[in-house]
Amino acid sequence: MARKKTILDFYKMKERGEKITFLTAYDYPTAQFAEAAGLDMLLVGDSLGMCVYGYKGTIPVVMDQMIYHSEAVRRGAPNTFVIGDMPFMSYQSSLEKAVESAGRFLKEADCDAIKLEGGVRIAEQIRAIVEAGIVVMGHVGLTPQSSGQLGGHKAQGRTAESAKMVVEDARAVRDAGAQMILLEAVPPEVAGFITRDLEMPVLSIGAGPNCDGQLLIVSDLIGQFQAFTPKFVKKYCNVAEIVTEAMQEYCQEVRAGIFPQDEHCYTMLEGEEEKFLELMRR
Ligand code: KIV
Repeated sequence: MARKKTILDFYKMKERGEKITFLTAYDYPTAQFAEAAGLDMLLVGDSLGMCVYGYKGTIPVVMDQMIYHSEAVRRGAPNTFVIGDMPFMSYQSSLEKAVESAGRFLKEADCDAIKLEGGVRIAEQIRAIVEAGIVVMGHVGLTPQSSGQLGGHKAQGRTAESAKMVVEDARAVRDAGAQMILLEAVPPEVAGFITRDLEMPVLSIGAGPNCDGQLLIVSDLIGQFQAFTPKFVKKYCNVAEIVTEAMQEYCQEVRAGIFPQDEHCYTMLEGEEEKFLELMRR
């Protein structure tokens, strides 16, 4: 079994040009699969709001949900670096709230780090959480929790002015003491600039190949989430199809009396059937 990686390993991977593999996970079995597959990092993302709970977006997700799912992921992947994602309104309103919410991921779910969305405007929260001794991953570019302000789930940094703002956000995250950053939905040219500009590992979700590693939402990768598919997603299998077909086959077999067969049934112990029938005759 591979040793659990630390933040220092990710810095060394960046130095050596080794790509970091990063995936979301929301539950125990998926975390087990991910650890067996050798993922470097797992994110218990607030995308679970859409992928697990069927909400329209991430806004309704609350801290307790994030903690329950993080605990399950930790149990499934005890030797993988796990990052807890701070949900909407768990850090925006005050520094105290930000530190308290971040601390819950470590104390209650044994996470290794936390992630939070925003650059310049949440730099003080990042600083306070780092000062509490917690490893922080920043998240800039498209930030789904504030997608209302961005006019929807739109790629960022596509004009020179917008690209400059993404760079400023990334630098604010670094200056506040974060040790990693995630860029979402940003052109590769801008992501490449930031990856060279910052010493810290820069992860991409929809930010192209020039970053130090890649993140995908596991429900997209396995073809489980069906509401929409962002441009940057590659589906590696189609679980929705496989599972639906398996369920259809099960229904057909039950209706036709094909399932269950003898091999699926328990047998009575030797001689017990006669005794049982005798008892029932009395
Ligand atoms: O919640 C999540 O999975 C995320 C990704 C979209 C980056 O924050």
